[in-house]
Amino acid sequence: GVSEIKKYTIDEVNHHKTKDDAWTVFNGKIYNITPYIKFHPGGEKELMRSAGKDGTKLFMSTHSWINYEFMLEKCFVGFLAGEQRNLL
Ligand code: HEM
Repeated sequence: GVSEIKKYTIDEVNHHKTKDDAWTVFNGKIYNITPYIKFHPGGEKELMRSAGKDGTKLFMSTHSWINYEFMLEKCFVGFLAGEQRNLL
């Protein structure tokens, strides 16, 4: 149920910024991108620019057409606290 969906603040996301423990946020959804690093066609360095941050702008400016929600389905961590998306 909805109550099981976790929420984290951006401060918490900021703590997960290393290769072995990297979180990012796209449109209010938090993802653990660590398992995806080795698969990213744009390379580790580019992907890691979004680690520990809200990566929405970077993602949208590089490849807004890519379906990250589908690709990162298994990497979903929770919602960013304070975002409208939490209400859905
Ligand atoms: C390329 C997915 C995050 C920068 C790509 C491609 C995919 C992809 C599928 C290949 C695109 C193509 O060949 O047309 C993802 C996913 C991400 C992610 C699922 C989220 C985890 C990021 C971030 C950045 C970035 C945060 C920028 C800071 C790039 C760049 C390329 C690329 C520069 C190379 C484009 C090229 O050389 O053709 N990414 N990406 N990506 N991505 Fe990402």
